Amino acid sequence: MSADPTPSSSRSVSTLAVVGAGSVGATLAYAALMRGAARHVVLYDINRKKVEAEALDIGHGIEFMPQGTIEGSDDLEICRGADVVVFTAGAKQHPGQSRMDLAERTVGLVREVMPRLVAMTPDAIHVMVTNPVDVVTYAAQAVTGLPTQQLFGSGTVLDSSRMRYLVAQECGVAVQNVHAYILGEHGDSEIPIWSSASIGGVPLLEWPGHGRQPLFDVGVRERITHEVITSAYRIIEGKGATNYAVALAATRIIEAILRGEHRVLPVSTRIDDYVGISDVCMSVPTVVDRGGAVQRLLVPMDDAEIAGLRASADHIRSVARSLGF
Ligand code: 2OP
Repeated sequence: MSADPTPSSSRSVSTLAVVGAGSVGATLAYAALMRGAARHVVLYDINRKKVEAEALDIGHGIEFMPQGTIEGSDDLEICRGADVVVFTAGAKQHPGQSRMDLAERTVGLVREVMPRLVAMTPDAIHVMVTNPVDVVTYAAQAVTGLPTQQLFGSGTVLDSSRMRYLVAQECGVAVQNVHAYILGEHGDSEIPIWSSASIGGVPLLEWPGHGRQPLFDVGVRERITHEVITSAYRIIEGKGATNYAVALAATRIIEAILRGEHRVLPVSTRIDDYVGISDVCMSVPTVVDRGGAVQRLLVPMDDAEIAGLRASADHIRSVARSLGF
């Protein structure tokens, strides 16, 4: 079904396919249209009533958005020819569960759906969002044979925005002026890179606090790190799922692709000899443009951060290995 009277003409504009119409997928479709990131959005889910209802509800708001169309279907064919495909389908994370607890079920879904999906969208850029996203991305690359430039994960774009939000609150500047990354796993072993973070050009570790002492002392850094790592658990405990910020983070990636922005984003790609780490998918700063995840950047890190990143890589790799990848 279509929520727009002339969807057939929309194939001439960029098409975003969203796989999975759960809270993340539906919010992502909404956010992408709201921000004008994609002109035509197709939403796929096995639950026909749900996907048609989500498309209808979003479609009724198109008048108030920049410009766009949306279709929803339980037929995967709806994704055929899409420019960007975002995979959000998978097991739901329940209170108390870690993202890694979802690995087996989600990887089963990847094995089932991804080959069919890629056959319909051989030239698309594929962005995996489903958790555990680093393991899912590694599995999807293995199953499809697509290069990491063309198939990558949303990684720690969201975690980095959580970190920047907390840093901005702490020192009272706009979040857009905070440059800081969380790298490694999108999950419990992720690593904040404090040593090269900056606020409006000032090294974060030199930002003045009370009595001209550095504001971001060990205690403040540990508190922010803890808050970032536990925030998804708190949100899931309170409302059952996270959806708004993850949808916006994924929309940011889609914009970088469809507008060819050359944005530096910490997406999850397959790493080859990055500070000695290889053969794992995890997040490092990466240039994203119309060709996908085109270039990884080596951000300055201290020894503890490098050690943390290596441990995070080992953790992701061990889960992938346990699932046969
Ligand atoms: C998040 O971090 C659960 O991965 C999801 O919000």
